[in-house]
Amino acid sequence: MRSVLECKQLCDDSKASKPNDGRGRYEAGQRRCNTCGVFFDTANMHCQCCGTKLRTKPRSKAGKERLATINSRPAATAAEAAAPNPAETRPAPAPKPKRGAKTPGSRPQKSRDGNATATTTTTTTAAKSAAAARGPNLGGMDWGLANRMASIIRPEDNRALMLAVDHGYFLGPTERLEEPDRVIAPLLEYCDSLMLTRGVQRTSVPPATRTPMVLRVSGGSSIIGEDLSREDVTVSVQDAIRLNASALALSIFVGSKYEYQTIANLGRLVGQAQEYGIPVLAVTAVGKELGKDARYLSLACRIAAEQGAHIVKTYYCEDFEKVTRSCPVPIIVAGGKKIPERDALELTYNSIRGGAVGVDMGRNIWQSDHPVAMIRAVRSIVHGTNDADKAYRMYLDLAKSG
Ligand code: R5P
Repeated sequence: MRSVLECKQLCDDSKASKPNDGRGRYEAGQRRCNTCGVFFDTANMHCQCCGTKLRTKPRSKAGKERLATINSRPAATAAEAAAPNPAETRPAPAPKPKRGAKTPGSRPQKSRDGNATATTTTTTTAAKSAAAARGPNLGGMDWGLANRMASIIRPEDNRALMLAVDHGYFLGPTERLEEPDRVIAPLLEYCDSLMLTRGVQRTSVPPATRTPMVLRVSGGSSIIGEDLSREDVTVSVQDAIRLNASALALSIFVGSKYEYQTIANLGRLVGQAQEYGIPVLAVTAVGKELGKDARYLSLACRIAAEQGAHIVKTYYCEDFEKVTRSCPVPIIVAGGKKIPERDALELTYNSIRGGAVGVDMGRNIWQSDHPVAMIRAVRSIVHGTNDADKAYRMYLDLAKSG
């Protein structure tokens, strides 16, 4: 029998990068597996690769004392204490987009009103310059909005793995999602965020989770009704705040009978959500009859971005680069209907290579016979370096052992 203290080399897809804000790894809350020799950004007590108990403090006495000093100060002071000497600090480099992916909020970095630029250029004192050099890069966004965006699209690698479980809002008890709590529990630690309705969040997600929630706030139609595109905003921003939503999701149905209503809903929602620093993810829904080619999807994505959506979720298609190139905000790809695991991994790989920041996948994960193996394989592409073949081998290995 294999020892539990042996690295199974499955940690590559989930190891954490070094914080780029001057803090140490332990200080930033990372935990180390001494067996695998890597750090994780996790609240788990044990390594998900080998089962070793994770270290939460440095080994050396000096390191422990430094961490204790930092932790004993108020938060802002602790951050300052850990920040490198401003005189030696260059502004943190923006995360390098891989395989043509875009930086989240890269377009909004251009100040809309010019204030940010004016402030920087008119600053005269050395202290102010030093503070500016230390300050975070908010990409032109308010801190709350930037913070929520960063919880969905991980700044370390500019990638996102969202688990979609919102299907019941128009499909009812979707196959293999009949009991959402059982489906969600084992997958929660492997996704960056969870896309769901408020009903499922309140009934089926442990409130102690640290996983960010992307709350679906549109609905009003059903699969057996007359027209799927007839959606309205069904959740208030106040309730979304009560639910501690990290983003709001709403569908637009471009080219449908209710096109006007759903696009106007998006514009209004962006206005309301932005007041509270909450980003909006627009879903370019295709209903029963709308197309999924690059011409249609680039039109729909661009319209969503023009209305102010901060992220757009769409489908993968041929000439996908045409869709990502013409959309000025990050794109996340939906998984779509269940297909063989190898094909879903290929779709994930191609989406990222085509410029998406990640996937929002549902059925291809929880309708798989091995959902945990599948989400880990998807993760190894989104946040790791696996291509579809390697990820599929990983899926098969995990499925066999789990
Ligand atoms: C569909 O109505 C939902 O918005 C889903 O979140 C979306 O389609 C992603 O799920 P799947 O990967 O199953 O398509």
